[in-house]
Amino acid sequence: MHATSSILLSVLPCILLGSTAKAGNYSLKQDNVGSAFLDNFEWETIDDGDGGRTEYVEQSEALSSNLTYANNNTFIMRVDDTTQLTNSSEEGRKSIRIKSKDQYTTHLMIADINHLPVGCATWPALWEVDDDVGVQNGEFDIMEGVNGQTPGYTTLHTNSTCTVPSNRTQLGNATFNDCQSTAVQEGGDNGCAVASIYASSFGPVFNSNGGGWYVAERTEEDFSVWFWARNDSTVPDEVKNGDDSLSTANWSTPLAYFPASSSCNFDTNFKSLNIIFDIALCGSWAGNQFSESGCPGNCIDYVNSNASAFSDAYWDIASLKIYLPS
Ligand SMILES: *[C@@H]1O[C@H](CO)[C@@H](O)[C@H](O)[C@H]1NC(C)=O
Ligand SMILES: *[C@@H]1O[C@H](CO)[C@@H](O)[C@H](O)[C@H]1NC(C)=O
Ligand SMILES: *[C@@H]1O[C@H](CO)[C@@H](O)[C@H](O)[C@H]1NC(C)=O
Ligand SMILES: *[C@@H]1O[C@H](CO)[C@@H](O)[C@H](O)[C@H]1NC(C)=O
Ligand SMILES: *[C@@H]1O[C@H](CO)[C@@H](O)[C@H](O)[C@H]1NC(C)=O
Ligand SMILES: *[C@@H]1O[C@H](CO)[C@@H](O)[C@H](O)[C@H]1NC(C)=O
Ligand SMILES: *[C@@H]1O[C@H](CO)[C@@H](O)[C@H](O)[C@H]1NC(C)=O
Ligand SMILES: *[C@@H]1O[C@H](CO)[C@@H](O)[C@H](O)[C@H]1NC(C)=O
Ligand SMILES: *[C@@H]1O[C@H](CO)[C@@H](O)[C@H](O)[C@H]1NC(C)=O
Ligand SMILES: *[C@@H]1O[C@H](CO)[C@@H](O)[C@H](O)[C@H]1NC(C)=O
Repeated sequence: MHATSSILLSVLPCILLGSTAKAGNYSLKQDNVGSAFLDNFEWETIDDGDGGRTEYVEQSEALSSNLTYANNNTFIMRVDDTTQLTNSSEEGRKSIRIKSKDQYTTHLMIADINHLPVGCATWPALWEVDDDVGVQNGEFDIMEGVNGQTPGYTTLHTNSTCTVPSNRTQLGNATFNDCQSTAVQEGGDNGCAVASIYASSFGPVFNSNGGGWYVAERTEEDFSVWFWARNDSTVPDEVKNGDDSLSTANWSTPLAYFPASSSCNFDTNFKSLNIIFDIALCGSWAGNQFSESGCPGNCIDYVNSNASAFSDAYWDIASLKIYLPS
């Protein structure tokens, strides 16, 4: 996801780097499995804007129309794949956007995902923002992508100028001038994006592999994202088992890594954020890349006319475990 606002240059105080160990140790705060999502998340009905073709529905409608399905151990949220639309009719194709009722600063999350939305026009995202405020409070896009095409991306957005070192240790491929230009992050438009190096972390291959684990950590010193596919034997046991307490101390190099520095002050750029899962359709990314992704015609007509093309546009989330530093 993305947000737009204009530029503010601020004076950034120095941040202490490297002199302390990473927090590392965490305790399980909230375990979202199946119906727990219904209690711990809010179904948002906000407008995606930006040429999107999505109509997010309330929880009651989502449940009665089965766009959301939950039982003790299953949680599914999907796009309507039966209704034909026209340009003049509805706001868009019905879909789901949920946000955590709680907000978080430093935390770790393990998203154990069985299936993510794929197909032309889709723009699924797992991200963190305060959408009552916007990018002024920072935005951490843990994973997103469009039209079912790899790579998936992890991106950090800030309101004011913020850059991260190009030599930081991560597996992913930095984009947009390696996040070194002062124009890159300010105003939140482009953000500092990292492209996944794994074919299995997004799109149909993620699903045919049975999904996997996205893990995101926010400390006072850095943001990190790891990904392990379902069949990756190197997934830490504590992630695979969803242990009640765990430590990131000995984990492998993250896929994406954004350290705080004298040119990226986390205190001023990042506040308390909600966790969001959604499935947007068309809009400024999926729509603009529609043809480039090999999709036919134009995105809006495709969404309106091709209801059955959205049968794979669903999240099946085995669990979302949220941990706090211990
Ligand atoms: C964010 O940017 C806008 C536009 O430049 C500015 O008005 C606002 O003060 C900024 N907010 C923060 C917290 O820096
Ligand atoms: C984290 O836990 C390990 C043992 O599990 C312990 O050795 C270490 O001191 C802890 N680190 C912090 C920062 O508390
Ligand atoms: C609702 O969705 C679930 C999960 O996909 C499915 O198992 C169930 O059959 C659906 N229920 C109806 C009434 O279609
Ligand atoms: C859910 O779990 C509770 C408690 O274990 C059990 O009583 C109930 O039958 C379960 N419901 C379903 C739909 O499996
Ligand atoms: C529907 O709207 C889109 C976007 O405005 C436009 O490109 C398309 O031509 C319209 N389709 C029809 C059938 O009018
Ligand atoms: C990155 O470069 C800076 C100087 O430009 C250096 O101080 C720092 O140690 C380097 N970090 C890594 C991980 O190589
Ligand atoms: C991404 O990084 C991998 C591994 O370093 C490299 O093989 C690949 O060519 C890169 N892809 C792009 C698009 O830069
Ligand atoms: C996981 O399974 C896919 C095929 O579904 C295969 O291509 C890949 O090599 C496997 N990865 C590992 C680590 O076994
Ligand atoms: C990390 O590895 C070191 C060296 O093997 C070990 O001493 C330490 O206990 C490990 N920490 C955790 C939290 O597993
Ligand atoms: C619907 O999907 C089919 C198959 O991908 C495609 O050929 C057709 O152009 C699509 N229709 C519209 C209106 O986009």
